[in-house]
Amino acid sequence: MQKLWMILMIVSFSAFASNDDFVYITVGTDAVQSTAKNLMDTETIKVDSDISVMKVHKDDIDIMSYMMHGEFKRCGGFMVHDSKAEALSVLADNEMRKTAKSFDFAEYTITEENTVQSVMSHINEFSIRSTIIKLSSFKNRYYKSQTGLDSQNWIKATWEKLSQGRNDVKVEFYKHKKWPQPSVVLTLEGSTKSDEIIVVGGHADSISGFWGRERARAPGADDNASGIATVTEVIRVIMDTGYKPQRTVKFMAYAAEEVGLLGSKEIANEYKKTGKNVVGVVQLDMTNFKGTVDKDIVFMTDYTNQAQTTFMGKLIDKYVQVPWGYSKCGYGCSDHASWHNAGFPASMPFESTMGDINNKIHTKNDVIENSGSTADHAEKFAKLAVAFIVEMGK
Ligand code: BES
Ligand code: ZN
Repeated sequence: MQKLWMILMIVSFSAFASNDDFVYITVGTDAVQSTAKNLMDTETIKVDSDISVMKVHKDDIDIMSYMMHGEFKRCGGFMVHDSKAEALSVLADNEMRKTAKSFDFAEYTITEENTVQSVMSHINEFSIRSTIIKLSSFKNRYYKSQTGLDSQNWIKATWEKLSQGRNDVKVEFYKHKKWPQPSVVLTLEGSTKSDEIIVVGGHADSISGFWGRERARAPGADDNASGIATVTEVIRVIMDTGYKPQRTVKFMAYAAEEVGLLGSKEIANEYKKTGKNVVGVVQLDMTNFKGTVDKDIVFMTDYTNQAQTTFMGKLIDKYVQVPWGYSKCGYGCSDHASWHNAGFPASMPFESTMGDINNKIHTKNDVIENSGSTADHAEKFAKLAVAFIVEMGK
């Protein structure tokens, strides 16, 4: 491993780098020393207790991924930003956003027991399992491959079929200029407060290997067919029961998460720029591998909103009744970070603690057989998401 980095570094290092050749990254503070040691051309810009900003040569991004993987068992472990200002603002706002009281409306009350129970009772393990199996059957869902387009077409068509006949629902592609794979967005228009938006999403793309990713087998059953299957099941039971929220609910299948949260970053930043009122975001990324014996649902405490996450814990106690706890990614590990960085309250209920993660992700072996062959674990997340939507949608 060490030797390979050395070769990569020598090949990529340029002694005459101009400013355009550098990018700004945010990275877990625990990884700053190693990064500075292993890459020749870095500068540490700012360090705080959780996250730090560094300037690195853009050709070193691949080596950086390699290093984070080898040393920290993180798959990317850092976030690339468009500018120094964007990277620094992540740091400046991080602490403040974690504890910010979300929105004035957000009383986070539990009052809709009958509706929650009735919608929840339609959740079906086999239906979630079937979606996981279908999505894993694409060779990969990589953001630059044809099969990564095909899989998004499948999700769009599936969501359209589920919502057929509802005039308060539309399903659209959110197209991204810089790469071919679109995100998919289903909008369920709120009846009385339609400008207040709840977002429930997960990433639809998958990844495996370092070179030739366009052709590599990447079933991504847990990462993240499980999250998209959970979202799809929530859509199915909402349509089945004819539930209509007062606030608008948007379901999202993000493109290009595995290469730097690109799809969600573009969407969240556009929502911020156009002043959209997003009152709550839930990220479902990896829901079907039960890695931790005594905890079924684990909330990430970084890049998330504490008040909303505390509320979700209460929803579990009331409606899902499984043991839950907290853990920490240590970096912006999924699309919730895009929303959090854009200033919206986000939560990330996850399948295990960080210490017990599914070590098959990002390989050809991330198949449902390696997550117990059923969707029993994911079902709990579908219940939680239904409870969240109904109690927040009122
Ligand atoms: N699902 C993972 C994130 C994850 C992995 C969370 C393990 C908790 C435990 C996600 O798809 C992913 O791989 N994210 C990247 C980061 C992104 C910025 C490229 C990662 O973890 O390296
Ligand atoms: Zn991943």
